[in-house]
Amino acid sequence: MTRIHIFDTTLRDGEQSPGCSMNIQEKLDVAIQLERLGVDVIEAGFAISSKGDFESIEQIAKQVRTPIICSLCRALPADIDAAAQSVRHAAKPRIHTFIATSPIHMSAKLRMSPDDVLQRAVAAVTHAKQYVDDVEFSCEDAGRSDPAFLIKVISSVIRAGATVVNIPDTVGYLLPHEFGNLIHTLMTNVPNIRDAIVSVHCHDDLGFATANAMAGVLAGATQVECTINGIGERAGNTALEEIVMALHTRSESLGMHTGIVTTEITPTSRLVSSVTGSLVQANKAIVGANAFAHESGIHQDGVLKSKLTYEIMDASSVGLNQATLVLGKHSGRHAFTNKLTELGYHLAKDAQEKAFERFKGIADTKKTLSDADIHALVADEVVHVDETYHLNYIQIIAGNRTRPLACVQLTHNGQLLEGACVGAGPVDAIFKTIDQLIKDEVQLVDFSIHSVTGGTDALGEVTIRIQDGHDRFTGRGADLDVLVASAKAYIQAINKMLSRRKDPAIKATTGD
Ligand code: KIV
Ligand code: ZN
Repeated sequence: MTRIHIFDTTLRDGEQSPGCSMNIQEKLDVAIQLERLGVDVIEAGFAISSKGDFESIEQIAKQVRTPIICSLCRALPADIDAAAQSVRHAAKPRIHTFIATSPIHMSAKLRMSPDDVLQRAVAAVTHAKQYVDDVEFSCEDAGRSDPAFLIKVISSVIRAGATVVNIPDTVGYLLPHEFGNLIHTLMTNVPNIRDAIVSVHCHDDLGFATANAMAGVLAGATQVECTINGIGERAGNTALEEIVMALHTRSESLGMHTGIVTTEITPTSRLVSSVTGSLVQANKAIVGANAFAHESGIHQDGVLKSKLTYEIMDASSVGLNQATLVLGKHSGRHAFTNKLTELGYHLAKDAQEKAFERFKGIADTKKTLSDADIHALVADEVVHVDETYHLNYIQIIAGNRTRPLACVQLTHNGQLLEGACVGAGPVDAIFKTIDQLIKDEVQLVDFSIHSVTGGTDALGEVTIRIQDGHDRFTGRGADLDVLVASAKAYIQAINKMLSRRKDPAIKATTGD
């Protein structure tokens, strides 16, 4: 059996998706969960891109000891120095340096000749080697690069000491058979290829990220770079849960396996979705709400007779457990804690206490709370936002014969702020009042609402996105009152935006 190494880049490529930024505490929580999941490598960030990125890599390197902790950098000495500094406390540090090798990137973006790129690649690996043994090198846009040039670059960087060579299809352009052929060409034509681990990194622009990664491992790659829920630049990356469950479910015919603890997949997916505010589509393979649901009569009948008729994986193998206990108003702390454990949560004591208090508040109004309600409650506790503004209350007057009016009270630096506005609708009135109180005009780009369960007494979950210059921030709120949920989500996104403004980020783009 060939062991396939799982390189998780949720905290780096994943965080590059619009609105998916995480703060240091959230990244640390995700890294700790990735360690439980059993990933081999955590790409913790892009050290030179911001002070926040640097600090989060450093914290993760100090506290997460089992996986390799990797820091990304361009093929530039200052970038490599920052990456080396950020992982200096890691038990197993890796520096990951990259430069583009495709004609379009070399001429239009880098304005460098192929010879200069080759020289820069070798110099970068040599520079990184003074700091760590484990150096990964990526040929950005390898999918559109000339294979003969790739062979030259890869053999040279391996000679310079690269321990891992990564082949990204940066723009998700290749078809599975083409990507498989590219890896095969490199496996057979790079003379020293056996001296390094060959890695694949595929984007999903044409929906082939997982198929291409699979084609890559079938051609001999033994590391797959992927993200939880497939988040990442543009259409995203290979989804960790998909490639892992494909390798797990078809292990015998593939002759491959991973070190992933598959039962941690669902809790990890939920954590990442909560901290990024990036919802998972219902029909998403492995972790979507419908991934294990059977709707049609024929399917239900088949599954009742034998699960094997329509299920190729057991839901419990990805950590999706059927509810054994429904909670209600009489459930105590013990039952609540047991439920959290059953659902795969590992909350800190104060977060658990806060979730319990909210549970009690909701259980007073709503008779029973399902697992979905508990997930929505806990999602509020896994987001760590500096509460520059705290929502104390909202009061709304709305109806078909009145102009919607909102009164809002916030706390800011220990001061009470209060205001009222009319709006086109009640949500508009609330958001306008908040804008007035924080003395800013927030640009709302997305607002969505969904009921966590069926029933008119369901919790409403609101997700919003706001834009601040080039940055997007997501906010999420759940409440029995959808207007309260909307206000909570808006304030959360604003608090994230204000935290970001405080971080003096030196934003770097991938590649120049
Ligand atoms: O997609 C890409 O090329 C990347 C590299 C930096 C590895 O993310
Ligand atoms: Zn990428």
